[in-house]
Amino acid sequence: MNSPVWWRDAAIYQVYPRSFRDSNGDGEGDLQGVIAGLPYLADLGVDAIWLSPFYKSPNKDGGYDVSDPRDVDPRFGTLADAKDLIAAAHAHGIKFITDIVPNHFSADHRWFQEALAAPKGSIARSRFHFYDGRGENGEMPPNNWISIFRGPAWTRTPDGQWYLHLFDSSQPDLNWDNPDVAADFEETLRFWLDLGVDGFRIDVAHGSVKEDILIDHRDPERLVDALRLDFLEISEAERAGLLGDIPFFDREGVHDIYRSWRRILNEYSGDRMAVAEAFVYPSSRAARYVRQDELNQVFNFNFMMLGWDAAAMKASIEGTLAELVDVKAPATWVLNNHDTPRVVTRIGSARKARALAMLTHSLPGGIYIYQGEELGLPSADLPDAARQDPAFIRSGGTDKGRDECRVPLPWSSTLANYGYGAGKPWLPQPSDWAQYAMDVEVKVPSSSWTLYKKSLALRHSHPALGGEGVPTWIDAPLGVMHFTREPGLEVVVNATDERVTVAVSGTSILLESADGSSLQDGRLAIAANTTIWLQH
Ligand code: GLC
Repeated sequence: MNSPVWWRDAAIYQVYPRSFRDSNGDGEGDLQGVIAGLPYLADLGVDAIWLSPFYKSPNKDGGYDVSDPRDVDPRFGTLADAKDLIAAAHAHGIKFITDIVPNHFSADHRWFQEALAAPKGSIARSRFHFYDGRGENGEMPPNNWISIFRGPAWTRTPDGQWYLHLFDSSQPDLNWDNPDVAADFEETLRFWLDLGVDGFRIDVAHGSVKEDILIDHRDPERLVDALRLDFLEISEAERAGLLGDIPFFDREGVHDIYRSWRRILNEYSGDRMAVAEAFVYPSSRAARYVRQDELNQVFNFNFMMLGWDAAAMKASIEGTLAELVDVKAPATWVLNNHDTPRVVTRIGSARKARALAMLTHSLPGGIYIYQGEELGLPSADLPDAARQDPAFIRSGGTDKGRDECRVPLPWSSTLANYGYGAGKPWLPQPSDWAQYAMDVEVKVPSSSWTLYKKSLALRHSHPALGGEGVPTWIDAPLGVMHFTREPGLEVVVNATDERVTVAVSGTSILLESADGSSLQDGRLAIAANTTIWLQH
């Protein structure tokens, strides 16, 4: 790492706490489980962890349905456990980032319960989006919008009004025009900042502000198809038409929220940060979330969605760095998260995933690692009966949902439930996961874990890794990427299925994502689907 500000080139590890480690045997991961896993994460060499929500929640959407953002859900532990976790992470030299969900609350939140009990037109209702329906007796929803998890984006209440929920019906959208909402989020930010968190990951950062709520969309079903993170089956022209101007995403007003949040972060010492989940179109608009007076990082979903295609990746890397240079923000590189297929499954091979990881670890800016990625875990096959994601339930099973990437982690090749915990895991673990268990991988020199550990260590020790700037590209054969970063790093990525020989200036191999390559007299014969770092 070369940046004086920790987050600009940090390796940030995403913990999905429900599936990380279960300390009390109830089948669900918890905060004490995360504490128990910290030595493992410190050994791996991550700079920070980001925890998905552990707040009070009925858990209809994996905790992204928050009923009290300033308390811990009993399934995860207590507020005292959260304080212990923050302190323990810091004691291991690991920063702590927590999730914040400004687009919606849980229907169990006190405010929504008050709103249901309050009359039409009340202040309590104006904290959410309540409207009368259409049709003679208001029996039709106020507009035709579809929830991201499918089904109508509106649910009717007993007194006949409807409320908006872009996600599950248990996640009513907040109305940011009501100043109570901003005040409450400010209190939440300060609450966690005072407890010592180093930053926030902002859920659906592009969503909080809505415009033209009563206007129908011309094709709401197709719009939701296009909003899915596996959008590649939709042509660019159709995407542009659908996503160019969505009344509920990426409105100008969201930036006012983040300017005010930036001011709060700046009041605290220690380079507190925020990273935006902003899935916007065109992707160049993501840079608007990280202008100097707004947030610090934005997830690079554009790169994440690409296949293993050298030309497309190179264009995306160049585009990303160019877009961010004007706003002086560092890039982020993300290969998967708790909402997407695991990278091994997405690009179809563990070998390619390792080469892709080493490519991203060599780029300027920060990296995000989703728990289990360092083990090379694939997405798990699950029987439909085990699936719990509201995206599966609300779509009637046509969308398989996101449970496949949320299966509890394998810690041990010999213990029950792969050492995740004593109780039956909340999602079934595949029978062939002993090979990926941490106790196995940490001992195997050719394992994915060992590669990640070496790569993260080099990110700390090599003066060209991490940091910012742009790579210097060198002409390369079709399907190959070749660049240098100064001082002293040369990177070759062979994204083809053939061995390729490339002229290099590097004199020794620092790290390779797989065996089978050779370097002699300035010529690197690089094996298929491999990334190599050279000292030059
Ligand atoms: C974000 C989260 C996802 C959640 C959704 C609604 O996209 O990453 O898990 O379902 O927001 O909160």
